[in-house]
Amino acid sequence: MFDLHGRVAVVTGASSGLGRQMALGFARQGADLVIMARRVNKLEEVAEEIRSLGVRCLPIQCDVTDTEAVNRAAEQTIEYYGKVDILVNNAGASRNAGVLDMSDEDWNFTMQADLTSVFKVTRAFAKYMVNQRYGRIINIASIYGQVGNTAMDTVAYHSSKGGVVNFTRAVAAELAKYNITCNTISPGYFETELTADTLKTDSFKKFMEVSVPLGRYGREGELNPAAIFLASDEASYITGQNIKVDGGYTSV
Ligand SMILES: NC(=O)c1ccc[n+]([C@@H]2O[C@H](COP(=O)([O-])OP(=O)(O)OC[C@H]3O[C@@H](n4cnc5c(N)ncnc54)[C@H](OP(=O)(O)O)[C@@H]3O)[C@@H](O)[C@H]2O)c1
Repeated sequence: MFDLHGRVAVVTGASSGLGRQMALGFARQGADLVIMARRVNKLEEVAEEIRSLGVRCLPIQCDVTDTEAVNRAAEQTIEYYGKVDILVNNAGASRNAGVLDMSDEDWNFTMQADLTSVFKVTRAFAKYMVNQRYGRIINIASIYGQVGNTAMDTVAYHSSKGGVVNFTRAVAAELAKYNITCNTISPGYFETELTADTLKTDSFKKFMEVSVPLGRYGREGELNPAAIFLASDEASYITGQNIKVDGGYTSV
């Protein structure tokens, strides 16, 4: 089960963190990869790691907020592999502030990076999935897309990730007739470039210990099983769903 040999998987934001980990996870299951991000050197390093697992990897430098660049990336993928089976919308970033202090600029930056980008990349790649009558789209939201929180003020991030959860349902309903599934994974706290500064503080560790039932942050690779499952043929009757990989954070 969960074999991905013969599948082509695209992962955005794969130059670091959870995107890199999921791309490597797919490669270990046999998938060929397209990895996208802005930092070319980092992408090349990840591409080498992926190829060392015996699969193909096409790194594409792409800002996922740039419509032209995203459309070009989809075209390049089809030119190179002839198809796209799996798309993981993982790239994300945040400028944090509360509703009273948030500037228009920071609000727009975060919505573009976390929500509009998911729309643009899905639009570009899904049209090829429609032609081939097969697709697995996985959108990475967050526990902050389900609930508010008292640890930090991140109103735009909460809003964008909440948008991703319902964007997923809308796309799932629209594209089901083409044998395309679309699901969300909502991670809890994982140490990555995005979160390291916050998660290593004593005050946040104390907050985590009382708010995460499993009592720890997510470890490297712990998001992968959910992504591999949703990307697999075996998940053929699951669409519009939202799997929380959060140590129980949203269950209490
Ligand atoms: N870590 C957590 O605890 C956590 C929790 C919940 C949700 N998430 C979500 O998980 C996803 C991955 O985050 P992470 O924690 O792995 O953070 P990360 O290590 O900072 O990775 C973010 C990735 O997104 C890429 N990226 C950002 N803006 C981009 C843009 N405009 N165009 C293309 N690529 C862009 C970055 O690459 P370049 O800089 O090279 O472009 C990087 O590869 C995000 O959607 C995040 O919101 C993370």
